Formats: sequence, structure tokens, C-alpha cells
Amino acid sequence: MLVAPSILSADFGLLGEEVRAICDAGCDLVHVDVMDGHFVPNMTIGPVVVEAVAKAATKPLDVHLMVEDNNFFVDLFAPLKPEFISFHFESERHPNRMANKIRSLGIRPSMVLNPHTLPEVTEFLLEDLDMVLLMSVNPGFGGQKFIPNVIERAQRLKELIEKRNPNCLIEVDGGVSDANIAQLKAAGVDVVVAGSYVFRHPKGYKEAIASLK
Ligand code: DX5
Ligand code: ZN
Repeated sequence: MLVAPSILSADFGLLGEEVRAICDAGCDLVHVDVMDGHFVPNMTIGPVVVEAVAKAATKPLDVHLMVEDNNFFVDLFAPLKPEFISFHFESERHPNRMANKIRSLGIRPSMVLNPHTLPEVTEFLLEDLDMVLLMSVNPGFGGQKFIPNVIERAQRLKELIEKRNPNCLIEVDGGVSDANIAQLKAAGVDVVVAGSYVFRHPKGYKEAIASLK
């Protein structure tokens, strides 16, 4: 299981140190939540701060856009060369065009589905995606309760992936912890995002990441 801690739950007063610490603690990706105050009722960070995160990180960035205008934000973040950029299906009129644009910039395209969007919407998009991110909370905030329907959604998505593009990864984001990680793995999930679980773990980041792996 690959683990991508979400820096949304980090101490932003010590952001560089926090990013170095999760990388040293064995994470696989650094998950960066970008919110515009329109698509979701919260705002986070822009390219100036993410550039500082990229400098501190020794692991690749996993940028999760929660925005209305994907074109604008992809252009802003592409120069930072993240490994993945994820855009929401629900905010994109032309998901295939967006996936192809992200790939043309040398970045791996990923599409996100909200907790109540059917996994089947991905079927004819999968061949152009490197990852599908299934939300297991309503996007916008860290520390929310895990929505268990993600297990069935991951199983259904896994079947489509096997048929259409076996190389496509499944990522899950929201409320991930040691209480649901085994079920996620059994459902075919490859990557988990974990914010509050990692940053609030009583035994520290290394133990938290190791327990998910
Ligand atoms: C929610 C974000 C998540 C969030 C996860 O909109 O996309 O990445 O930070 O935090 P936890 O793991 O605390 O649910
Ligand atoms: Zn996220």
C-alpha cells in the first residue's frame, strides 16, 4: 500500500519541517490539497506555498485540485512538476481533454470522484488516466468521518480497471486509518491519503505510516 500523507493536517507554521518529517518517515507521495473557495467551502494554498513544499519534499507530490477552473490551476501547478495532478469529475466539462492536457505537460493524470458519484462514469476515460481517486469524505476538510460506501465503489472500479486499463491505480482519500486500511487493500486500493491519522498519531509519523503499509 502506498501512503500519501495530506499536509492539510500539518502545522502550517512549520510546513517545511513537517514535509521533511513525513518524507523521512517513509511516505511514498506528499498529498497537496488545493481548494478555491468555490468548488468546496474552504481555501488552502497556491503555487507559492506549494513551491516551498516541493523544495522541502524528497518524495513526489500528489496534487489534488478541488477547484472550479481546472485549466487555470493545472497551468499554475504544472511548472512544479508534481507526479500526479487529480481533477474532479464533478467540476470538469471535458474530463478526457483535461486528462490529455495534464499528460501533455509531463504529469500523470488522475480523476477524482466525490463519494456519491458512480464509479461507472470512469469506464471510457480509464484508458487515458494513470489513477482514479475515490473520495471517502465530502471534499473540503481534513478530519471527517470515513464513508464506508467507498469499499463497494473501489471493488466496482477495480473491475472496470481490469477490463479497460490494468495499469491505472486506485487512490482513496478521507478518513483513512488503521480501522479501514485492510478493507481498502482487499477492495483493490493501491494508494491511500491520510491526513489526521498521520499527523495526529500518538506514536509519531513513522509508526503511523508503517501501520498503514
Ligand atoms: C479532503 C482532502 C483530504 C483530507 C484528508 O477534502 O482532500 O486530503 O486532507 O484528511 P483526513 O485523512 O483527515 O480525512
Ligand atoms: Zn485530498
